[in-house]
Amino acid sequence: KELINNPDNQIIMEIKIKLNGTEMTADVEPRTLLVHLIREKFSSTGTHIGCDTSSCGACTILIDGKSAKSCTILAVQVNGKEISTVEGLLTAEGLHPIQEGFKENHALHCGFCTPGMMMRAVELLEKNPNPSEDEIRWGISGNLCRCTGYNNIVSAIKYASAKIRGAELPSTEPKFV
Ligand code: FES
Ligand code: FES
Repeated sequence: KELINNPDNQIIMEIKIKLNGTEMTADVEPRTLLVHLIREKFSSTGTHIGCDTSSCGACTILIDGKSAKSCTILAVQVNGKEISTVEGLLTAEGLHPIQEGFKENHALHCGFCTPGMMMRAVELLEKNPNPSEDEIRWGISGNLCRCTGYNNIVSAIKYASAKIRGAELPSTEPKFV
């Protein structure tokens, strides 16, 4: 739907998405960024904005299961698609394995990168449930942690991998490297 005759003479488009399993509708300008749709129209502020230039990965979400940086995608581009954000990880069964991994391995400091890191890791583990350390590090190379907590983030992803596969969980003792 396109409405042109609003008071500001702006073009407004109605879009529908499924956000964490719930059908949502919003009227947006063609220039509205996906991250602003998620945070401002749908009040899902778990998705962060760091750089606004596709560099840091703080805004990473899943579009139809594929990770994407929502700061450089227009809201109208995801009309009819399924969006998953960090808020959708917790279910009635409890924490998602990646959330448990981050918790058990103290894989966050300020937490700013955490939602994006988790969503990227979810896709990584869906594609490759048993990644090597190199594959994990390469997999999260588009997500920056300004607190430089990479070692614990890698441990968290290894923990989630073991949990998903039903393998023995790795030690969560702190490692000093
Ligand atoms: Fe999107 Fe940094 S805010 S990549
Ligand atoms: Fe602070 Fe990663 S925990 S940016």
